[in-house]
Amino acid sequence: MKQKKDFFRSKNDPLHIPPGGPGASPSPPRVYDQMGEQSIQLMLKDFYKLLGSSEIAPMFPQELEQAAAKSALFFIGLLGGPPLYHQTYGPPRMRMRHLPFKITESHRQVWLACFYKVLENSERYRFPDQEIPAFKAFLEGFSGWMVNSEDTAMPS
Ligand code: HEM
Repeated sequence: MKQKKDFFRSKNDPLHIPPGGPGASPSPPRVYDQMGEQSIQLMLKDFYKLLGSSEIAPMFPQELEQAAAKSALFFIGLLGGPPLYHQTYGPPRMRMRHLPFKITESHRQVWLACFYKVLENSERYRFPDQEIPAFKAFLEGFSGWMVNSEDTAMPS
C-alpha cells in the first residue's frame, strides 16, 4: 500500500533526468477556436475528478476544482488560445513546477490513462476527433519530460 510520502520528493531523493530532454514532444494541435475556453475548463475539471479518485490522488490538493481551473489556463494557451497561464503565473517551467511531486513512469501512466479516459468523451468538449491523435502524441512526449523519479520496487 502506497503512503502519502510515496508521492512527494524530498531534498535528497535522486533526480531522474529523462534521456529525451525537453524537446521530445510534438506540438499540440491548435483546437482552441473550435473548443473555446469553457470546454477546455470542463475537460480539465473532468480530468482532475478522475485524478482525484486514481492511484495518484494523494499527490493532488483537496481543492481539485481550483487546481483544475489553474491547469486549464495552461491548456487554453497550449491549444492555441490566449496565454492566460503565462500572464497570471509567469513562465510555466513545468518540469520545475512538478519537482515537488514524485513523478515516476508508473505515476505518469496513471496520469495519461486518466487523460485518455476523458478524451473518450471528446464531443462533450467539442474536441475535434481528427486532432485527438496529435494531442495524445503531445501528452505522451511532454509527460515523459515531467518524470523526475525512478520507480522503486515495492516490498512484496
Ligand atoms: C507525467 C505525469 C504528471 C503528473 C503525475 C502530474 C502531476 C501534477 C501535480 C501533482 C500537480 C500539482 C497539483 C495541481 O496544481 O494540479 C500538477 C500541476 C500541474 N500540471 Fe501536472 N502532472 C503530470 C504531467 C503534466 C503534463 C504533461 C502537463 C501539461 C501538458 C501538466 C500540467 C500541469 C499544470 C499546468 C499544473 C499546474 C501548475 C501550477 O500549479 O502552476 N502536468 N501536476
